[in-house]
Amino acid sequence: MAIFVTQDGSHSVFSEQYGVTYHSKHGAVTESLHVFIDAGLRFKAATQPELAVLEVGFGTGLNAFLTWIEAERRNLRVRYVGIEAYPLPAEDADGFNFSEQLQMPHRHPDFCRMHHCAWNRNVKLSEHFSLHKKQIRLEAYRPTQSFDLIYFDAFAPQAQPELWTERIFALLYKALRPDGALVTYCAKGDFKRALKQVGFEVERLPGPPGKREMTRAWK
Ligand SMILES: C[S@@+](CC[C@H](N)C(=O)[O-])C[C@H]1O[C@@H](n2cnc3c(N)ncnc32)[C@H](O)[C@@H]1O
Repeated sequence: MAIFVTQDGSHSVFSEQYGVTYHSKHGAVTESLHVFIDAGLRFKAATQPELAVLEVGFGTGLNAFLTWIEAERRNLRVRYVGIEAYPLPAEDADGFNFSEQLQMPHRHPDFCRMHHCAWNRNVKLSEHFSLHKKQIRLEAYRPTQSFDLIYFDAFAPQAQPELWTERIFALLYKALRPDGALVTYCAKGDFKRALKQVGFEVERLPGPPGKREMTRAWK
């Protein structure tokens, strides 16, 4: 696994298979907090303390870990489903420096627990956070429950055009509850048109460092 340090000091991974990085080189933790936690979780949690969250691309588990921490801070109950086609080896993931970067080294054992727990079943990690890591390709995924929030964190459309299609967004739209939202770092025109085509209302928001805009889309 090719780990590297991003500009805010936090680790990320380079995917040899897709020739792209898992996070922005401007800062992995900074990007995840901005796009998924601030624009997604905190926004939804302001009116709803119980949330079902779907993540597309569990990867390093950074978004899941930040969600768990936030759920405890705000006394939320989050049921989190993270789908992933190519899980990283749990032992390698233990070496990520996210807890240290968040100045929460005491949470590192929890981060490791998240990686070492079983795939393909629901695991209650705390009163506030349960995790279902599902090893499956998004193209084959058929949701059996509905969600309040979707973190769409696939590789960029240039790297993985097959995941940024109307067919996929129609499936995700259907999986959302009314007033549910999808957040992502991407703000490309074709992508936003595809979202609108399947029924989403699309909102443009300021992006994290290095990106002018990001997207939040509503059912
Ligand atoms: C941008 S990275 C995700 C980063 C992750 N959220 C994190 O915080 O580390 C994209 C992730 O999607 C996964 N992926 C690639 N193709 C996929 C597919 N067809 N279905 C589901 N996951 C896929 C990759 O293995 C990778 O973990």
